[in-house]
Amino acid sequence: MFRHKDLLGLQDCTAEEITEILDAADKMRELLNGKKKKPDLLAGKTLVTLFYENSTRTRTSFELAGKYLGANEVNISVAASSVQKGETLIDTGRTLDDMKIDFIAIRHSMAGAPKLLAENVKASVLNGGDGINEHPTQALLDMLTLRRKFGKIKGLKVAILGDIKHSRVAKSNIFGLKKLGAEVWVYAPETLMPKEIEKLGAKKASSREQAIDGADGVMGLRIQLERQSGGLFPSLGEYSKFYGVNENLMKYAKKDAVILHPGPVNRGVELTPALIDGKSSCINEQVTCGLAVRMAVLKLLAEYRGKNL
Ligand code: CP
Repeated sequence: MFRHKDLLGLQDCTAEEITEILDAADKMRELLNGKKKKPDLLAGKTLVTLFYENSTRTRTSFELAGKYLGANEVNISVAASSVQKGETLIDTGRTLDDMKIDFIAIRHSMAGAPKLLAENVKASVLNGGDGINEHPTQALLDMLTLRRKFGKIKGLKVAILGDIKHSRVAKSNIFGLKKLGAEVWVYAPETLMPKEIEKLGAKKASSREQAIDGADGVMGLRIQLERQSGGLFPSLGEYSKFYGVNENLMKYAKKDAVILHPGPVNRGVELTPALIDGKSSCINEQVTCGLAVRMAVLKLLAEYRGKNL
């Protein structure tokens, strides 16, 4: 039984809770193949998306997840809201609470913003990415994609290459995959690698080949130019040459290894176009699994609210 009012990060979730979400998401993923998408589960509930940072996949799939399950769904355009007049995050959240909403999916550039909001509103808060902290639904959709491909998470080797330092996706994946028994290897230029990464449970590779050797899943991460002050690597061309993943490097991975990327992809930088569009790419399936995961999380939080609030 999922025992949280909010979904703020995978560091706070047990292995059992993560498995419960993945089991529910697996059923939602099957539903998405059919014609009827269970439109009654969230009837009468209201979801608000409140994104202070840009998004295509996360915001749209939260909105569609709510709609497919029968909820009312409202998007707040932060640029056109009273945030621009100086309204605080807590006051914005309380204003939404007073409109009797049930869920707020939030993305914010400040690590900890979803937690601050959750502590101050009655609605359930779903973290759609907070600064360099966590992006729990992204890691859950990555795990769902892997579990559907390999039938398990335990014992898999997953290599994550790219901008680990600024990546909330890497952190949530390390927390989630480790809890379910996978081995996570990371590789990045020293300037894009957090000093304490091994304390989170990841293994730090000294080369791309070592990270990818025997891997079941190889994940490229986007270079997050918006979170960098500059000078962390010489140029995108050199980054691609020395730190990107290409077809030759994938020969070190297992034969049936899959390519993952959270998107948006910088084509030809972190992964070659041939890998992005190739047979082993799961990037499109990740998007559909993202919708299934967000449907599952909304369902489980609605059940928690029904029993506890
Ligand atoms: N993966 C991800 O968070 O994508 P968006 O920024 O498009 O939501």
